[in-house]
Amino acid sequence: MKKVLVTREIPQKAIELLKSKFEVIVNKEDRPMTREELLNYGKDCDAILTQLTDKIDRTVFETCSKVKIYANYAVGYDNFDVVEGLNSGVELTNTPDVLSETTAELAWALLFSVSRRIVEADKYLRAGNWKQFKPTLLLGQDLRKKTVGIIGAGRIGKSFVQKCKSYDMEILYHNRSRDEIFERSYNARWTELDELLELSDIISVHVPLTTETNHLINKQAFKKMKKNAILINTARGAVIDETALIHALEEKLIWGVGLDVFENEPNVSEELLKFDNVVLTPHIGSASEETRTEMGILAARNIIEVLEGRSAITSVYSENKKKDN
Ligand code: NAP
Ligand code: GLV
Ligand code: GLV
Repeated sequence: MKKVLVTREIPQKAIELLKSKFEVIVNKEDRPMTREELLNYGKDCDAILTQLTDKIDRTVFETCSKVKIYANYAVGYDNFDVVEGLNSGVELTNTPDVLSETTAELAWALLFSVSRRIVEADKYLRAGNWKQFKPTLLLGQDLRKKTVGIIGAGRIGKSFVQKCKSYDMEILYHNRSRDEIFERSYNARWTELDELLELSDIISVHVPLTTETNHLINKQAFKKMKKNAILINTARGAVIDETALIHALEEKLIWGVGLDVFENEPNVSEELLKFDNVVLTPHIGSASEETRTEMGILAARNIIEVLEGRSAITSVYSENKKKDN
């Protein structure tokens, strides 16, 4: 019987699906596997269902030489060395689409929380500071008719834009390539990054982390933003230079920030914690019961397809190829 390693507990339905076909080893510890554990268990396995915290590189490909597929439990796959994977002839898959709505919803939840100062208001009430109705208490910003700039209007960025419709917003976006169907459907306008930064009241980041997008939002970028700008990041922490962000907050260059991802997860810069206009969540973008189950089932189905000799459903290689064409 073929053997599958699951590096961290995931919803039971996905484990059951794998168990109906294979011998399954699941990490039962409430922590990621150490690299040593991953290599030790992985070397006897035919497939590994990985987490975004598992670095899958040449050493892993060489040590786990029986493994035919690494199925990431995430749409982002910056934890994979894709070039080495291709060289080693292994399949690499991710979980696109099934999590787009849920992640876009978290971006909106952060946006609402920042614009209406929800976390600050909750803390104020719990601290017993609320004495009476006050016309000037905790004033936020309206979202209606604002200009929103999407950095990376892909699956999640577009799902975010869909939800802008009822707010009568002006939509700007920046990708490497233009998408004219999207532009027509949402009256969206492609801009250079600098123009987007200068014009947007709301900026939501949805690009994958690559060598190109690392620190895309840097010191210069913050200087271009409006003073009333709200910045939301549900993509990857390192897309924003966290030191530059802290500086921008200290200098009041922007109005507020919502972050689900950080440069050195799970460590969050101490300085970020002191700002009331920053709302922080611990990388829970896709964390709904329904979506986490669907992600597990998609990852399991990718493993089944490949171990039974068929093509993967969502290979990251075909995703890269589409973009190169
Ligand atoms: P996607 O469909 O591939 O969209 C990514 C978009 O970014 C594309 O429109 C792409 O357009 C653009 N892009 C890529 N490189 C760029 C660059 N150098 N400059 C400008 N634009 C660039 O991906 P997705 O499914 O929406 O997911 C996006 C990311 O969200 C994932 O990679 C992951 O890191 C993150 N994520 C986080 C959570 C969470 O829990 N917080 C959950 C899910 C996903 P072009 O190719 O035309 O440039
Ligand atoms: C989560 O961060 C993902 O990339 O799916
Ligand atoms: C507020 O509660 C209002 O009635 O306007």
